[in-house]
Amino acid sequence: DVFHRFPLQLVHGIPLMEPIAQQWGPIENFQARPDDLLISTYPKAGTTWMQEIVDLILVQGDVEKACRAPTHIRIPFLEICSPPPVPSGVQQLANVPSPRVIKTHLPFQLVPKSFWENRCKVIYVARNAKDNVVSYYFFDQMNKTQPEPGPWELYLQMFMDGKLAWGSWYDHVCRYWAERANHCILYVFYEDMKEDPAREIRRVMDFLEVELPPQVLEKIVQQTSFQIMKENPMTNYSSVPSTIFDQTVSPFMRKGQVGDWKNHFTVAQSEAFDAHYQRRMEGTGLHFRTQI
Ligand code: PPS
Repeated sequence: DVFHRFPLQLVHGIPLMEPIAQQWGPIENFQARPDDLLISTYPKAGTTWMQEIVDLILVQGDVEKACRAPTHIRIPFLEICSPPPVPSGVQQLANVPSPRVIKTHLPFQLVPKSFWENRCKVIYVARNAKDNVVSYYFFDQMNKTQPEPGPWELYLQMFMDGKLAWGSWYDHVCRYWAERANHCILYVFYEDMKEDPAREIRRVMDFLEVELPPQVLEKIVQQTSFQIMKENPMTNYSSVPSTIFDQTVSPFMRKGQVGDWKNHFTVAQSEAFDAHYQRRMEGTGLHFRTQI
């Protein structure tokens, strides 16, 4: 079995899974095309949800078309590297006709330069830190390619220290937030998507310059609800072998809520987290809701 829990290795100071670090050259030199659309997130911020929304918008609400293949086939993951012979994200993308939609978790400074040179559109999804880290903790238990998460208390500290795969949540969300003035970045909050999905899908449609009738928008809202996506084999990652994603440990579509952190943080953990958070986020102008 070529898959196992890969250790992390620093790439320009960012911890990434070893196979990614070892095949960094082709990722760094990736040639974006001007009509590429990049969906960027810190892991577990709502990537799959936005991928499904974008795909449904691009197929104008045709559910059958959106069900043509699983999420990760329809929208390749730029930096993913498996040991050969499994094709890397870069190799997969070479064979995708334009216009391509591409997923990444790379922090702003590691996104291949060609995306910015080509002025590609980027949709960034951000989720409040507490729910984000809880979701990541469950994911790292079931994802057999990432390091063992260990006990929650230590995992939380690793998150605060920016030591988990793809680095610091704080730097990730803040840098994209700051850069949205300089680039074609649509910044979307997971909490806003939960609060009013139709409103946020309309923002995405405007950004993509796609107009759809109200009944199609309504259909996209339905089709991208947590319950439907949890049951849809083309969005719930059930096609990924259990040697990689063991969904008996924790389902990929786990809870899909705002505020689940309250079930996992102790009061003391929450207070320590908040104090550290305040120091890290002060003056950024970036505000998250931890409940809606
Ligand atoms: S990944 O592996 O980084 O691509 O994961 P990602 O898709 O970013 O994050 C997974 C979390 O998003 C939740 N999710 C949703 N929430 C609400 N509505 C919809 N439709 C939806 N689809 C996915 C998913 O349940 C994970 O969050 P948690 O809190 O763990 O449930």
